[in-house]
Amino acid sequence: MRVLLIGSGGREHALAWAITRSKRLEKLFVAPGNGGTERIAENVALDVADHAAVVAFCHKARIDLVVVGPEIPLVAGIADDLRAAGFVVFGPSKAAAQLEGSKAFTKALCDETGIPTAAYARFTALDPALDYVRQQGAPIVIKADGLAAGKGVTVAETLADAEAALRDCFSGAFGAAGAEVVIEECLVGEEASLFAVSDGEHIVLLPAAQDHKRVGGGDTGPNTGGMGAYAPAPVMTPELVARSKKEIIEPAIRGMAARGTPFSGVLFAGLMITDAGPKLIEFNTRFGDPECQVLMMLLESDVLDLLEASASGGLAGVEPKWRDGVALTVVMAAKGYPGSYLKGTEIRGADGLDSDTAHIFHAGTLRDGDTLRANGGRVLNVTGYGASVAEAQANAYAAVGRIDWPEGFCRRDIGWRAVSR
Ligand code: AMP
Ligand code: GLY
Repeated sequence: MRVLLIGSGGREHALAWAITRSKRLEKLFVAPGNGGTERIAENVALDVADHAAVVAFCHKARIDLVVVGPEIPLVAGIADDLRAAGFVVFGPSKAAAQLEGSKAFTKALCDETGIPTAAYARFTALDPALDYVRQQGAPIVIKADGLAAGKGVTVAETLADAEAALRDCFSGAFGAAGAEVVIEECLVGEEASLFAVSDGEHIVLLPAAQDHKRVGGGDTGPNTGGMGAYAPAPVMTPELVARSKKEIIEPAIRGMAARGTPFSGVLFAGLMITDAGPKLIEFNTRFGDPECQVLMMLLESDVLDLLEASASGGLAGVEPKWRDGVALTVVMAAKGYPGSYLKGTEIRGADGLDSDTAHIFHAGTLRDGDTLRANGGRVLNVTGYGASVAEAQANAYAAVGRIDWPEGFCRRDIGWRAVSR
């Protein structure tokens, strides 16, 4: 099988690594890829926003399956354009990607299908939104409606913070994404990430993971794209997984099919485990990053069997096999992230660390001759595997200790909730 993978993050290096282990693979291209994918696949300098160019490449390279990693091309309809040209695509249509592309869309689906989620109201103007938060009081959550690279959400502890977040949104801080604002009840509990691969009808659940969104130890400081993750997450007991599937995943898949816009690809439910049970915080329509890195570290069976079955409608009976034990990934980021940071700094010692119990997935890196350089905010995903969370954590941090990158940093406590359980 000839495969094109779209994206350039740690998620895509992990997917590329899993795909290259498939017996069904003939050739893998990654567009645009990074300094990690170029060692195991062919990076292609395609502008993925130019759908016609992607289609032309797929014809020329005789691509059998396109795997779309990130949300931006999905929300822009790349899967539709590729399917219209006759290609098989892992990832949802533009209409189904609205589950990530619009928080108001998802809230409406929750109302229609009874998915438990935070109470909310929607606003398109500042004054009524200010009146509403003053009525509700803090804590309260303010969200720009559209895609804002994880930065459009404010969990406001005080009324003043809530008002400032509303003023930011309506003064254009998130561009068009902030023209509409969703204001939500603040949910209390532990968060978990649940992943369901679907072909529009059938559902395969993957192990539940837990992410660490805050930049600082002890889950403090500003939100990021994710500073580390592990799976399976003990907070998701078999009962909670079954309940989340029945109350959240199945109604969403059935609801999208009933609307005539079936969802295929991977549906990522961000959950809050409250005293009243699991509630949906948000859907994403792609693998989590860095959650994907730990899932790929655990996957034993052929990833192309899963991705292709989702893409072509044959998911019934597909049962991926997982290693026993735990995978845990530590994100190494450039100092300053999620604020401003330097690019181009040299990283030493990151090659040659891969083994059965550790793997370095690259995110924002590039190769400059024999030199590896940082090329983004989140740069490396140092992933450990072990029989327990503590062992996976020790293996990951042992590998971190061998990487020499003075301009980088990482959290030292990834996995703390599971270790303390
Ligand atoms: P989102 O981009 O919607 O995932 O939100 C980013 C983060 O904000 C989530 O991972 C939560 O930590 C937090 N968050 C979002 N919505 C809520 C909510 N209704 N209650 C509490 N925390 C929330
Ligand atoms: N790690 C969270 C996300 O990918 O959105």
